Amino acid sequence: MKARIIDGVKIGRQIREEIRTEVEALKQSGVVPGLAAVLVGNNPASHVYVRSKIKACEDLGIYSEYIHLGQETTTPELLQKIDALNRKDEIDGILVQLPLPKPIDEQAILLSVDPAKDVDGLHPMNAGNLALGRDSLRPCTPSGVIEMLRRENIPMKGNHAVVIGRSNLVGKPLAFLLLQEHATVTICHSRTQNLSEVAAQADILVAAIGKPAMVTAEFVKQGAVVIDVGVNKIEGDVLSKFLERDPSLRPQYQKNQAENKNYVLCGDVNFSSVSELASAITPVPKGVGPLTIAMLMKNTVQAARMRRA
Ligand SMILES: NC(=O)c1ccc[n+]([C@@H]2O[C@H](COP(=O)([O-])OP(=O)(O)OC[C@H]3O[C@@H](n4cnc5c(N)ncnc54)[C@H](OP(=O)(O)O)[C@@H]3O)[C@@H](O)[C@H]2O)c1
Repeated sequence: MKARIIDGVKIGRQIREEIRTEVEALKQSGVVPGLAAVLVGNNPASHVYVRSKIKACEDLGIYSEYIHLGQETTTPELLQKIDALNRKDEIDGILVQLPLPKPIDEQAILLSVDPAKDVDGLHPMNAGNLALGRDSLRPCTPSGVIEMLRRENIPMKGNHAVVIGRSNLVGKPLAFLLLQEHATVTICHSRTQNLSEVAAQADILVAAIGKPAMVTAEFVKQGAVVIDVGVNKIEGDVLSKFLERDPSLRPQYQKNQAENKNYVLCGDVNFSSVSELASAITPVPKGVGPLTIAMLMKNTVQAARMRRA
């Protein structure tokens, strides 16, 4: 079987067009949704992520503020900044870009965001509501995966979903969301025994591990749907090994080289071997990634509606 490739860019664009219409309707009633993105320090990847979120706001007519604080920012200083954003009426969503520099108390920061403005869905109140099956702001990447499965008409109800990864950001919330869709859910992690055998029982297999090309054909049942959340930058000495192991990376490598970029972005799934078995699969890049930003925009509009409309 040759898998159908799920086009995350196309689905992301569809969602964004729906959001554009919602933003226009909110503006008619005098509400302009607003997002504040807070970045601490100089992590280049984080800078790129935050810029693309601000750009998406600008494209959709969402008001945005980009707050870039120095590497030396302390926990009390950041708490003060978030307190000010919590009080600011035109800000509906607050996004604190993770990871924060080491000395900052990440838990204290996440806890300080007003749950009504927690568009990343990481505040314990929103995480708890999700676990209880109650309405809440939900983490963007997991809700993007669910949206993708829905729009691709991939049935979740009664099917066995195996999620590899149990982070608070992706694996755990995704498992709760799949449960709400009535899937039978298995969560795997670094201590799971016979991982490939467990994974090979999945009708829907999600990899959210952060280990490049780890999921190979032996993890996948013929006809399963495979969703690759992982994004891993491969460069340096190991690059040639990965290009050999997963030839599907080669066109991206050639394109990047032409632009003087000596790396590839690789998912957690070995696309070349797994796409021979799966019925549908997401690529990396252009799979789950575009959905994450679209869902952030959706959460911002939802927060604006809940707070002000
Ligand atoms: N596309 C997007 O928009 C998007 C958004 C967020 C994240 N991501 C990507 O998704 C991946 C996961 O992100 P994350 O934040 O969830 O990462 P994380 O916090 O590092 O969690 C990784 C999870 O994978 C598990 N794991 C690690 N090695 C394993 C192994 N050998 N076998 C089985 N399980 C293993 C870990 O298990 P333990 O709990 O036992 O340690 C952990 O639960 C990363 O590549 C990240 O870049 C993409």
